[in-house]
Amino acid sequence: MSSDFNEEKKEGFDAALSDSELRPSRWEDYIGQESIKNNLDILLRAATERGTHPEHILFYGPPGLGKTTLAHLIAKTSGRQMKITSGPAIEKVGDLASILTNLSPGDILFIDEIHRLNKTIEEVLYPAMESGMLDIIIGKGPSARTIQLELPPFTLLAATTRVAMISSPLRSRFSGGVYRLEFYSDEEIQKIVNRSAKILGMKTDGSAEREISKRARSTPRTANYFLKRARDYAQVHKKELNEEVVIEALKMLGIDNEGLSPSDRKILEVMAEKFNGGPVGLGTIAAALSEEEATIEEFNEPYLIQKGFIERTPRGRCLTQKAYEHLGIAVPKNLQDRLL
Ligand code: ADE
Repeated sequence: MSSDFNEEKKEGFDAALSDSELRPSRWEDYIGQESIKNNLDILLRAATERGTHPEHILFYGPPGLGKTTLAHLIAKTSGRQMKITSGPAIEKVGDLASILTNLSPGDILFIDEIHRLNKTIEEVLYPAMESGMLDIIIGKGPSARTIQLELPPFTLLAATTRVAMISSPLRSRFSGGVYRLEFYSDEEIQKIVNRSAKILGMKTDGSAEREISKRARSTPRTANYFLKRARDYAQVHKKELNEEVVIEALKMLGIDNEGLSPSDRKILEVMAEKFNGGPVGLGTIAAALSEEEATIEEFNEPYLIQKGFIERTPRGRCLTQKAYEHLGIAVPKNLQDRLL
């Protein structure tokens, strides 16, 4: 495992940061994701008018785009209690049974990283989601018996960065919808940075906010992380938080003018230098970097694809002309043929 590659994930802008102080608690403060907000508005209002709890909802998309924030907003604005857990925290059927039986009527259960639930637990979740029944097997072998418990009505909100790992029976049980969070525009990120700076009591100018937004991977969590690091830098160097300070602070973090991190650039470099720009499989790239495929697929690739540095083709991943130009490496002559 190449340690510097992974340290960036743990300590840096991809880590789950304590961003609760910056999390919006009113819909009007939640910037972007307009289509999801409109759909949720209808869903929640309709449920309220019918006097029932909202149906189960799945959010998916790259990390840091606000899936957990949406869950908190739904709970807060519908006045419901939310219990929070995650796929890896539910190890045994008994763990899930205990969570479900301890819910109060109308509660929301939020399961983060739901793709990490194991199959046996998924099987128990299906009837719970569909008909509010908990089937538990007691005993083993010929004397085993199934008992059914009726659960209080509840809403399951779930989030995943890896929707392809969710089995289709589970996916189809999210009767309230499966929503994909999109990357944010630079203007939306700039509004988020502006709001966060106000909450943190910081004096910034528009150019500093613009510079952070340009490099924040179209991701609110990253933008807030950069804002805090730029604040630290300005404070220690006794400088105003302006564009120049942002550039210096981000340079220290290894973030380039396209918002690429050292690990993003390593992926592009290895593809150019070892695999002639592709097509190359994700597993091969991961092995060359001593990195896990899931890390690259979840953390790096979505932004590299969104920015147009990598393309996915049926034969594997390929570098684009833009990637070569960004790396300052000569573009191979037959590049276009590979992208076909
Ligand atoms: N923090 C995380 N996501 C956000 C959003 N969409 N708007 C405002 N603040 C956020």
